[in-house]
Amino acid sequence: MSKCSIGLMGLAVMGQNLVLNMEDHGFSVAVFNRTTSKVDEFCASPQAKGRNIVGCHSLKELVENLERPRKVMLMIQSKDPVPAPEVALYPKNAAVDAVIEELIPLLEPGDVIIDGGNTHYRDTDRRTRYVESKGLLYIGTGVSGGEEGARLGPSLMPGGSPEAWPLVKEIFQAISAKVGPNHDIPCCEWVGPRGAGHYVKMVHNGIEYGDMQLICEAYWLLKNVLGLNNDELYNVFAQWNKGNLDSYLIEITRDIFSVKDEKTGGFLVDFILDTAGAKGTGKWMSQLALDLGAPSTLVTEAVYARALSAQKKARVDAAKVLAGPAQLPPFEGCKEEFIESVRKALYASKICSYAQGYVQMQMAAAADGWDLNYGQIALLWRGGCIIRAVFLQRIKEAFDKNPALGNLLLDDYFCSEVTQAQAAWRNVVKTAVERGVPVPAISGALAYYDGYRSATLPANLLQAQRDYFGAHTFRRIDEPEDQAFHAEWIQLRKKPE
Ligand code: 6PG
Repeated sequence: MSKCSIGLMGLAVMGQNLVLNMEDHGFSVAVFNRTTSKVDEFCASPQAKGRNIVGCHSLKELVENLERPRKVMLMIQSKDPVPAPEVALYPKNAAVDAVIEELIPLLEPGDVIIDGGNTHYRDTDRRTRYVESKGLLYIGTGVSGGEEGARLGPSLMPGGSPEAWPLVKEIFQAISAKVGPNHDIPCCEWVGPRGAGHYVKMVHNGIEYGDMQLICEAYWLLKNVLGLNNDELYNVFAQWNKGNLDSYLIEITRDIFSVKDEKTGGFLVDFILDTAGAKGTGKWMSQLALDLGAPSTLVTEAVYARALSAQKKARVDAAKVLAGPAQLPPFEGCKEEFIESVRKALYASKICSYAQGYVQMQMAAAADGWDLNYGQIALLWRGGCIIRAVFLQRIKEAFDKNPALGNLLLDDYFCSEVTQAQAAWRNVVKTAVERGVPVPAISGALAYYDGYRSATLPANLLQAQRDYFGAHTFRRIDEPEDQAFHAEWIQLRKKPE
């Protein structure tokens, strides 16, 4: 019997859909799951029956069914991380380590282990080195697009052992989403060594957090300032999805405003408890931004906004005590104009969010010795994934024009977009502040923009304070940068009366 092109362990929905997708493209797949009844159920299911899928009841059997060099893909779900403060800096999905240990003696030099989970890049880094030390190859790949993406074409972000890429390239590019006028450009390319692929996937998720938070703030402004109802919100998002905000997340937001609740007959969105969950990839990006000193404020605001939303009881109690601004008259300006201002504020903030994500990737690449292709990364996200959007083509073009671009905001197109949006953006933040509507991501993006475009900032005073109380020294604007100065502030100060 001929052997299979690839093996996959982990038959939850994502795993099953990837198997079917691979088989659609002419690759035979051996499958295994710890709970082996799942293997039998899947193989006997109408969707899998009669296809080139071989059910296996042990890892050994899975490996024996593979052509060489063998490729074993793991789709092992990680447990939800323990809530703070018990959570470690980054959780290890110990199940992946255990499976790697089991696989090593079964495999031969040149075989490849692939992890398709949402894994912390440091784990992938460590596992790549370890697996390579055993003569095998390793890939940690970002897989984005949810269940539907896995079935019809995900965005794939592989990194790890470079020698492994030619071995999986054909399969990965075949199953990935395609973009371009002829739908033939795969949203899958080699990202870089060790944990680079999972880092890029993590930044994708952090940007996803930022996009979602920005959309939620836009919704909240339209609902609370203008009093738009769900039908009107549907129309606004439908309209926005036709312009430069055209994206998967705007599209599903539009759809959400049309869905009725079977229980009450009202709109389902109005019956959903306002406490957000999170599996942790946004938090990882924020933690790693702090480690690097990268100002990724959008993802951090988005993570905090979820955390504050989760404090439902505290908010309900506080709402009875803490007052907002005095009652303001209903919005008197032009409704259409304000909707357009919110659209511009959303777009400008989104540009800042992507700019921050790219700066963080550049800083991480410098720290970890990766040579990332930033235009290509935009292309990987152009289709298949959750943040897929027409605007990513602009990012691709910006980095094609200037591969060394230090910040997206400096690209002609993005610079002109934020400049045009600026007045509206400021007006939206002003209105939100006046009326007490929380917009941490939209206002944070504006603060980042204003900070980034400032040739001087008040850090001179901050350095003076540090030197005053801790002799931490400062540099002078009129002396070489490498010289440190200290002042005897207490002696030099004006004596208090
Ligand atoms: C994707 C998504 C996915 C992520 C979910 C949930 O690219 O398909 O990013 O990987 O797990 O969106 O993330 P949170 O639970 O943290 O919101």
